[in-house]
Amino acid sequence: RIGRRIDRPVVLVGMMGVGKTTVGRKLASLLDVPFVDADEEIERAAQMPIPEIFATYGEPYFRSGERRVIARLLDGATPTRRKILATGGGAFVDPDTRRLILDKAVSVWLDSDIDTLVERVGRKDNRPLLRGGNPREILSRLREDRRAAYEQAAIHITSGNLPHGVTANRILKAID
Ligand code: S3P
Repeated sequence: RIGRRIDRPVVLVGMMGVGKTTVGRKLASLLDVPFVDADEEIERAAQMPIPEIFATYGEPYFRSGERRVIARLLDGATPTRRKILATGGGAFVDPDTRRLILDKAVSVWLDSDIDTLVERVGRKDNRPLLRGGNPREILSRLREDRRAAYEQAAIHITSGNLPHGVTANRILKAID
């Protein structure tokens, strides 16, 4: 059985646009374990889309909701410990959320070059932190500001613009 050594959740962290959700889904299907997307769970809990949470309540409120949701998803009481969790790009940057993930999961930092991130975020207009600015400038700045946090992840994977399936297989090799 592949992934037999994984007895903790695998949490994908890294910049928006890097492909955490798509890669996470593929990884989960390779391992035949459940996949959960933290952003989707936050939207379900708040009953509103993320841009609306930011606009109505602000980023600090979003971050504390995000921390609560991730804590619940990583809670040892959940029936299966083997699962893949994709997080929003800022989750692992919040010190408390990061501590939680480091304590309870195998963290995987997915990184990519700026050109690839810019191209990929361009496909959807659902990221409040990119609204009203130049995506390349914002992404470059955020990536530098967040690097020291992301570097604390247990496993580092650079995906460049490789297909997500290839990246999922690379993660599999790294965690197995
Ligand atoms: C954010 C990334 C988003 C979402 C929110 C904030 C960030 O998730 O959580 O817009 O701070 O980088 P993705 O990384 O899935 O785009």
